Amino acid sequence: MAEIYPIGGGKGGVGKSFITASLGTLIAKWGKKVVLIDLDLGASNLHTLLGMKSPKIGLNSFLNKTVKNLESTAVPTMIPNLFLISSFHCYMEIANLFYAQKLKIIDAIKKLPFDYILLDLGPGTNFNTLDFFLTSKEGILICTPEPTSIENSFRFIKTVYFRKLKQMMKKNTFDSLFKNTSSDLKRSGNNPPDIIEIVLKHAPEKEEFLRNKLSEFKFKLIFNQFRNNIDATLGDQFESICNRHFYSIFQFLGNISYDSRIHDAIFSKILYIHKYPHTQSAADLKKITAQIMSKIPSASFAKDML
Ligand SMILES: Nc1ncnc2c1ncn2[C@@H]1O[C@H](COP(=O)(O)OP(=O)(O)O)[C@@H](O)[C@H]1O
Ligand SMILES: [Mg+2]
Repeated sequence: MAEIYPIGGGKGGVGKSFITASLGTLIAKWGKKVVLIDLDLGASNLHTLLGMKSPKIGLNSFLNKTVKNLESTAVPTMIPNLFLISSFHCYMEIANLFYAQKLKIIDAIKKLPFDYILLDLGPGTNFNTLDFFLTSKEGILICTPEPTSIENSFRFIKTVYFRKLKQMMKKNTFDSLFKNTSSDLKRSGNNPPDIIEIVLKHAPEKEEFLRNKLSEFKFKLIFNQFRNNIDATLGDQFESICNRHFYSIFQFLGNISYDSRIHDAIFSKILYIHKYPHTQSAADLKKITAQIMSKIPSASFAKDML
């Protein structure tokens, strides 16, 4: 079974695509078969970050049924083991995907024969983006350590959480309970502790079930564009606040330092970790990759990787 990691966050420009391309490359270098799926429909740019021209086939070929399955739209990149499913030729915004198209894509993603599948999501919290984030039980959330970005991320988490709760209740036949509580839920402003409280007021016997189900869902957090003058414990603080507020599990994976050379590398269409393998940001990316793959970073890890 593939490990699926949607990579999201409420805001554009925080580094989701850059991190998707970098983590994908580093995981592929461990010998794992990896596919990156560009789900920022309408603003697809993952191919550029990988130093490629826009592939002719991609998600549009799958949606137009010009290929037999999603797997055949995965094109090789210049990194061995690393493939890309582009959405460059999808001339629509993700928000405009039909419900049936979304389900078809999610279903096909889950069947892809890869070791790791990374989903590069677009900005915002429309239903399609949220549902792609919920494709897996583990999602990676990218934010920058600025108050506005942290606020946005918290809002993103709350919206995902609320959607997850709604899906769970529908699936587990407490649909009527959901309907009974929905006006109270609206008033709660999507505040997770309030939501749970409202639901449990109507069905206290569901507490254990809800707690167990919601704790299956894991959020991994990354702070990107981190500068030296910022409190290094911010990520740990964010992790513990989230763990206190939600039943799901939050894990802070680490900071990725700000480096203006990332922009240069993207501009010259060369992968940053190839162009600048010995920088602080490259080391941060390698450490986070090792954590995702549950391997302890060793001295030989950094040396062997590039
Ligand atoms: N750690 C970083 N340090 C400096 N600049 C960064 C860093 N990460 C990303 N950037 C810059 O931010 C821009 C936006 O990144 P991108 O991955 O396209 O964001 P998103 O996919 O979230 O919209 C990139 O073009 C890059 O120049
Ligand atoms: Mg992007």
